[in-house]
Amino acid sequence: PLDYSLFQYKGFNLIANVHQVPFLDTLENFGIRDSDVFAVTYPKSGTIWMQHILGLMHYSNDLDGPVSKLTVQVVPWLEVQLPIRKNQDPATLTSPRLHVTHLPQYLMPKGLRKKKGKVIYVARNPKDVVVSFYHFHNYSLTLETPTSFDHFLEKFLHGQVFGSSWFDHIKEWYKHKEEFDFLYITYEEMVKDLRAAVVKISNFLGKQIDDRTIETIVDKCTFKNMRCNPSANYQMIPKTFLDHNKGVFMRKGKVGDWKNHFTVAQNERFDKVYQEKMKEVPLDFIWD
Ligand code: PPS
Repeated sequence: PLDYSLFQYKGFNLIANVHQVPFLDTLENFGIRDSDVFAVTYPKSGTIWMQHILGLMHYSNDLDGPVSKLTVQVVPWLEVQLPIRKNQDPATLTSPRLHVTHLPQYLMPKGLRKKKGKVIYVARNPKDVVVSFYHFHNYSLTLETPTSFDHFLEKFLHGQVFGSSWFDHIKEWYKHKEEFDFLYITYEEMVKDLRAAVVKISNFLGKQIDDRTIETIVDKCTFKNMRCNPSANYQMIPKTFLDHNKGVFMRKGKVGDWKNHFTVAQNERFDKVYQEKMKEVPLDFIWD
């Protein structure tokens, strides 16, 4: 089997044999177009959800079109050289190009900072992130199986996981947001009012989408419907990457599941680290 251990690329933890250094080196000069859209997330923060929404918005005139295609192909990873990229130079793709990435702001293509292209940052409360990430580690064959939740929580708090530190990721992006054409949205607001979130995204993208189409997009993006949609629910991702006997990608889709996992002591420990690391950041989360 291939080696999928973590390695640092310019200070950021990525996965060997998923992320390739020569390809990563090209991203700094990735040519940006005005119409490019980048969904940015720390892992387990609503990535596939935003990918699915963006894909449907892009194809809002033909809503049955992208459904037949995998969402991860409609909105491909910037940092992964998927087959779609190997044979198809991004330079030849038609606009608008939709991308998704977990990269920190300092590794993004330089051209984006000139406010060419748009960035949508999806954030999720980190207690639910660590729980979702823990389950994903048990299910993904490219991530180390945790010995216990407690051990994984420590690794997460120290940033010793794929994606490095949650705190650094959000703080860095937030600090530099003025350099980008930037929308900040949370997983929790999407759960509480998906329609409002979809309208917010469509306004940010400058799209004119009629109410009926908005309703259709919202309906296709509910947890229930995405969970049974093979183009969105990861069931088509090969068994070499995910052990489908050990988990599901669309696990719970809830706010506050951390309460079913954290002990009182773990919660106190988490709060202490959170308060310390986030004290200068004017961000608040919905925790349940
Ligand atoms: S990844 O591996 O980083 O791309 O994972 P990501 O897509 O960011 O996160 C997966 C979690 O998002 C939940 N999810 C949703 N929740 C609510 N509604 C919808 N439509 C939806 N789609 C995905 C998914 O269930 C994972 O969270 P958990 O808490 O594990 O259920």
